[in-house]
Amino acid sequence: MAPASPLVLVGPMGAGKTSIGRRVAKALGVRFIDTDAVVQREHGPIEQIFEIQGESTFRSWERAAIQDALGRGGAVVSLGGGAVLDADTRADLATCDVVMLTVDPRVVAGRIQGTARPLLSGEDPIERWRRIWQERRPLYESVADITIDTSTGPLQHVVDEIVSWA
Ligand code: S3P
Repeated sequence: MAPASPLVLVGPMGAGKTSIGRRVAKALGVRFIDTDAVVQREHGPIEQIFEIQGESTFRSWERAAIQDALGRGGAVVSLGGGAVLDADTRADLATCDVVMLTVDPRVVAGRIQGTARPLLSGEDPIERWRRIWQERRPLYESVADITIDTSTGPLQHVVDEIVSWA
């Protein structure tokens, strides 16, 4: 049965939030919303927003997209990795079903290679990823109802686990 409140995927960059969220929504027969995609549709590529308007403007646009998405009832919503930095978003997530996706740093390298993620640009993206993960891990944990590691096995197993939990 489709969930009545939003089913939200949180976790670090490269954990598979978008690919898994899309499949979970399809399996549950509900709308899928990726808040990064909403921001990009409304304001242009994320790397350009970071470069021109700056991260804090991105965060306010991201917050608006999240508020809108969470107001749409039983959708599956994938949030960007930094969404949990916002205290209002964390408070909103208290009334949602929240899945925290994790990934081993050794696996993440292959997933983030060649993708446009401004916070990982420059030297040693994996070291940056690790630092960000350490900082944000307690925030993800504070909002999560369940945690699933996506490092091994087919993504479809993760999808099935979320669908049977929802
Ligand atoms: C960010 C993660 C990205 C995107 C932006 C900032 C972050 O989303 O929102 O580049 O702060 O971790 P993904 O987690 O989908 O890569």
